[in-house]
Amino acid sequence: MIQLPPSPLQRINDPFLAKYPVKLYIKRDDLIHPDITGNKWRKLKYNLIDAREKGYKQLMTFGGAFSNHIYATAAAGRIFGFETTGLIRGEELNPMSNETLMYAKLNGMDLIFLPRLNYGFKDKITRQYKTDFYVIPEGGTNELAIKGVVEMMNEIYDEITPDYVCVAAGTGGTLAGIISGLRGDTEAIGFAVLKDKGLLYPAVAKYVPEDREFDISTDYIFGNYGKTTPELIDFIKGFEKRNPNILLEQVYTGKMMYGVYDMIQKGLFRENSTVVVIHTGGLSGRSRELDAR
Ligand SMILES: Cc1ncc(COP(=O)(O)O)c(C=O)c1O
Repeated sequence: MIQLPPSPLQRINDPFLAKYPVKLYIKRDDLIHPDITGNKWRKLKYNLIDAREKGYKQLMTFGGAFSNHIYATAAAGRIFGFETTGLIRGEELNPMSNETLMYAKLNGMDLIFLPRLNYGFKDKITRQYKTDFYVIPEGGTNELAIKGVVEMMNEIYDEITPDYVCVAAGTGGTLAGIISGLRGDTEAIGFAVLKDKGLLYPAVAKYVPEDREFDISTDYIFGNYGKTTPELIDFIKGFEKRNPNILLEQVYTGKMMYGVYDMIQKGLFRENSTVVVIHTGGLSGRSRELDAR
């Protein structure tokens, strides 16, 4: 059975926020499993169950060189007994190119490096393999992934009823799951981490009912995906110093947390509201710069 216990929901008691009338909580999905963390577990869970129920032995998925999804799928394959194949964008790469690919390889993933030009045709390429692959889309977002994220929302409602739930948004799949799992007056806010956010709205809208409102903040992208600024790095270091049991990274959770703190300081959350931020994991991509003094 593919089942893990609920992740902890913790209050952030940061002295920096003491004077602001907001209760801040963090859903520690980064602690859910040492290898398959955060939204990756939420998105993979029901895909893995479906694959197993349908008798598949092999998973196939896609991603870029630093993909947390590739990392998590490789780990899930090893742990739950599937062979895995990853189609990776960039023919110049090899399994030793970086730690994500090395980790995937070590976990038994068969890595196939595609020229960027062909990568757009990856679905066609997948069909050439015809056989018995259970195909999981890039980033892991599909209906079954949404179901897994809704489960995380249910875990939160088992403990508290937040006014806001905040999450970093890349492809928007996790945000879509959060919106699908909202109850009552809780609002969801996605913090975009990619400059090209044009794709984000339709990606979210694809999975949520038309009448559901949601907010996407584009104020904390810090240039583009993977880009940082000294201000962002300083913020993360300061946050971790004051909250020593929580590590962030600079691509997703650091940007989201920066945005949430900024919004709290600007009074953009309703007074006395309860805000839950989702720690979506991804710490394998944490920059060494964050550990430098
Ligand atoms: C650590 C982390 N947080 C957030 C996200 C964003 O998730 P989504 O692509 O579902 O918007 C990702 C995704 O790729 C991620 O790896």
